[in-house]
Amino acid sequence: MKILLVDGTVFGKKTGAILRQIEQYIKEYNAELELETLYFADLKHQILDGSPLNDDMQMMIQKFKEADGYIISTPIYQASIPGVLKNAFDMIDPKAMRYKPVSMVANGGTYQHHLVVENQLRPILDYFRCLVTPNYVYTHSSHFDENDMITDESIHERLRELAYVFLQYCKLSETLPHKD
Ligand SMILES: Cc1cc2nc3c(=O)[nH]c(=O)nc-3n(C[C@H](O)[C@H](O)[C@H](O)COP(=O)(O)O)c2cc1C
Repeated sequence: MKILLVDGTVFGKKTGAILRQIEQYIKEYNAELELETLYFADLKHQILDGSPLNDDMQMMIQKFKEADGYIISTPIYQASIPGVLKNAFDMIDPKAMRYKPVSMVANGGTYQHHLVVENQLRPILDYFRCLVTPNYVYTHSSHFDENDMITDESIHERLRELAYVFLQYCKLSETLPHKD
């Protein structure tokens, strides 16, 4: 199975640090999965306005289509998900992620916006009919040290558990029909 790790930040390193940690925990449980990271910071983003899509957007769409599962890691911007992430979802065929497992992790500058994951990101993935794991992880600045390493042990525990549940959802997904 191909798992796409989506690093949704366009600025800093914390969103990627969470993703690296969950990648490590996934590998500890299952070394056979093919893991690839898509860094939004590396893409030339283009708003969906009806114009022909540039190469980066086409590549991004293809990666979503080809993947068998996803870990979506996002920063919180203005009490919501970043525009580039919503824009990416707008470009994806509504059947491309159907019955595929997804886990969500998010990082904000404060505690206040953890429900963005539950109230804004999850409904989009539910619309895509993804197998969204019931658990997700929200971090904020005080869970990291000055080098953007996760120092909070409870966050590590939750990421480990998330990786485990995600892998169970991967097995379930293999039994379900997928669009080519
Ligand atoms: C444009 C912008 C808006 C932001 N809005 C919020 C916000 O509403 N709530 C919040 O908790 N953090 C907010 N933040 C802080 C980011 O969530 C935080 O800097 C980010 O998660 C750090 O991750 P990174 O190092 O991967 O970029 C905002 C940051 C930016 C740049």
